[in-house]
Amino acid sequence: MLVNGVPYRTIWPDPYDPSVIHIIDQRHLPHCFVLETLRSVDDVVRAISEMHVRGAGLIGAAAGFGVYLAALAAPEHSFATHMQTSTAKLILSRPTARNLAWAVDRTLAAMTGESTLSAKKEKAFITACEIADEDAEFCRQIGFHGLSIIKEISKRKNGAPVNILTHCNAGWLAFVDYGSATSPIYAAKQAGIDLHVWVDETRPWLQGAKLTAWELAQEEVPYTLIVDNAGGHLMQHGLVDLVIVGSDRTTRTGDVANKIGTYLKAVAAKDNNIPFYVALPSSTIDWRISDGLAEIPIEHRSADEVNKITGLTNNNTFETITIPLTNTPAANYVFDVTPARLVTGLITERGVVAANEKALLSLFPEVV
Ligand code: MRU
Repeated sequence: MLVNGVPYRTIWPDPYDPSVIHIIDQRHLPHCFVLETLRSVDDVVRAISEMHVRGAGLIGAAAGFGVYLAALAAPEHSFATHMQTSTAKLILSRPTARNLAWAVDRTLAAMTGESTLSAKKEKAFITACEIADEDAEFCRQIGFHGLSIIKEISKRKNGAPVNILTHCNAGWLAFVDYGSATSPIYAAKQAGIDLHVWVDETRPWLQGAKLTAWELAQEEVPYTLIVDNAGGHLMQHGLVDLVIVGSDRTTRTGDVANKIGTYLKAVAAKDNNIPFYVALPSSTIDWRISDGLAEIPIEHRSADEVNKITGLTNNNTFETITIPLTNTPAANYVFDVTPARLVTGLITERGVVAANEKALLSLFPEVV
């Protein structure tokens, strides 16, 4: 997508030196556009755990490149041990997004088919690039399928602006390109549909305020930033036509784990008869699990992220301040689970389906 008119992805290998991986360090957005280079698996682990890169699809793509960088540095005599230690670190770097372990397993599996060290390294690189390309392409297709939902609402409203509410950042910054929840929005904008997006600011990391708002501005999509608790009020007053959010892990039965606060939006949408869609590439589906509440690991992060806030001062410097009394006990649950019964439909790369096992399996019959 565009950054000041220039197309970017969120992660890419250096075209001249494939031992270097480039990312956008998202901690500095929206005020500074900072690129970072990753040269080792430890760089990747740090980038994921400290959220230089975040969002399910991008975490997966970064993990694929992480396995590749681990393979590049692996000594021949202890290749297996080195890979085991490195991938264990990668998998522990963030627990909720399914894409992380999925990408690690996929890259490792691709390498096992090769017998020489150099072939293994090359295969890891090819697979990591495939994961990134596929993520971008799946998100593009999500846009195509989700567009029909927005089109229908626009028709019903005789072309009046379609008001879409989204939570957190399931935009292109959370993937390799296009995004999941934002992809249908970009497709609708391109199709000339009049629309407007309500952007939840998304405490405590403020992915909505810092990232989604920035993305939409870059693409010239009209939006309004709201505090996290405003959505219900807007829905009660007919100001939301549609909710689209992303998913970090989806069960085979259609439960979805997404940024903390998503569940409350789904409850409010249900109470107000507003369609609540979840946009996700199949890489977020954890086919091994059926009960989101019981089985999806929910990340807890530092209390500091709740108690402190960082922003730009009038002097153009960044400052971190403390909001409550020092040492206030704070809990930082990062994701919550929205049960399938509250989800109107899942927008996947293969089409839109009901959030249940039968419907999902009809789209992905190769899964048993
Ligand atoms: O903690 P993050 O920023 O990695 O969380 C990811 C998200 O932005 C959301 O949960 C998002 O809505 C889905 S990402 C595919």
